[in-house]
Amino acid sequence: MRRIILSIDEPISKEKLVEMEDGLAAVKVGWPLILSIGVDGVNKLLTGLGLKKIFDLKLADIDNTMNLIVEKLKPMADAFIAHSFIGVRGSLGSLNLQGRELYLVLSMSHPGWNESFYPYLREVAMEVNPEGLVAPATRPSVIRKVREDFPTKVVISPGVGAQGAEPGDAICSGADYEIMGRAIYLSERPVEKLREITKKMEDRLYEC
Ligand code: XMP
Repeated sequence: MRRIILSIDEPISKEKLVEMEDGLAAVKVGWPLILSIGVDGVNKLLTGLGLKKIFDLKLADIDNTMNLIVEKLKPMADAFIAHSFIGVRGSLGSLNLQGRELYLVLSMSHPGWNESFYPYLREVAMEVNPEGLVAPATRPSVIRKVREDFPTKVVISPGVGAQGAEPGDAICSGADYEIMGRAIYLSERPVEKLREITKKMEDRLYEC
């Protein structure tokens, strides 16, 4: 089963992406790529790829503003990531994704994240009932908690490679997919690197 979501935060050639397609579960794009190559550039890069396209815009605004953003990007998106802290009334509760999936951030992977937000973010996620959740590979205990609180949700997990977690760590703690960016796209040979990381992940999953 393909368990790696490639985060494309810097320009990458379409040729390389197509070569990696078979080894990926999805691609994730966001502001850095949109600002580098533009909306049309992102569209060209993603068109024809047989992979789920997750737009990591970390939506965090009032409903009207988020709906305007979604309207522009929905032709090329299968899913959007939003922040939970914005709450339900006037915001997530009236977010109209027009059939696209929603992933809510429940905790973040960087060292300064304040985990005491979790009870509130969980309450919001329970009310909004998104398709999936984002939880950090750098904090396995948080992933275990998220899995316990949301047994049926898809959990995607950033923080592998450049941010320190090892391939397979998050899945062994209960995540469904691991998100990796720099560890793959900054490599001199991204296609080979993806294969190497996939093998490492399989070995780790065999142990857990
Ligand atoms: P790297 O290069 O660090 O890229 O593998 C990771 C990607 O994931 C994003 N990121 C997060 N997104 N919650 C999120 O929703 C997080 O805790 C988190 N940590 C990293 C990061 O912006 C990049 O696109």
